[in-house]
Amino acid sequence: METVILSLGGSLIAPDGVDTDYLKKFKVVLDSFISKGFRFVIVCGGGSTARTYQKSAGELSSLHSEDLDWLGIHATRLNAHLLRTIFRGAAHPRIITDPTAKIIFKEKVLVGAGWKPGFSTDMVAVLLAKNLGVKKIINLSNVEFVFDKDPKLFSDAKKFESVSWVDFRKIVGDKWIPGANLPFDPIASKEAEILGLTVVIADGCDLKNFADILENKRFKGTTIS
Ligand code: UTP
Repeated sequence: METVILSLGGSLIAPDGVDTDYLKKFKVVLDSFISKGFRFVIVCGGGSTARTYQKSAGELSSLHSEDLDWLGIHATRLNAHLLRTIFRGAAHPRIITDPTAKIIFKEKVLVGAGWKPGFSTDMVAVLLAKNLGVKKIINLSNVEFVFDKDPKLFSDAKKFESVSWVDFRKIVGDKWIPGANLPFDPIASKEAEILGLTVVIADGCDLKNFADILENKRFKGTTIS
């Protein structure tokens, strides 16, 4: 049985409220691969819920980075509970919030969420990969490829189909900024490099492309290794 770890960006779950249509289609794809013998670990991001709460809190009082992170963490946990409910029957009953604790699961789906301040759910996915002995993470968000600089700001931004951790980490830096919108979080990247993991960055809206990744076919996206 192949275990696939997904870092599912909150922008896909809740871009502006819950994207019910997307989640319906996402479930169809996962169910079809579950019936082929795959099992999935789905680590949920916080999406607009995290950002809305972080923004309001910042306007209401002067906050520490940790306070912002805790609001984000609870948004990821809300999204995780939604995913667990969607996969009711196939999913492990508990949401994983400590990716370093001993995990025994026999179900086809395990859902993870934010752990503690200082990084994003990308780090939770990396630590779950370590914990479960899985070498690859598929990071689904609203980003199609990794670019050498922000393609929205620079028309000459160059896209990568594959990139080393050394070069990727030059792009994202090594500091944690709550709510920063990077293809993979800098702290998680550092850990992934140490562990020798492969991370695939792809646009999660394109579910045909996601299926191609699962089937080891040619796909649109960036492989970081
Ligand atoms: P996300 O994982 O959604 O991070 O967690 P993100 O980078 O902001 O969003 P995406 O990946 O682009 O969709 C939301 C917020 O929750 C806090 C952070 O503040 C993060 O920005 N968080 C999450 C933590 O502090 N620790 C965690 O373990 C997870």
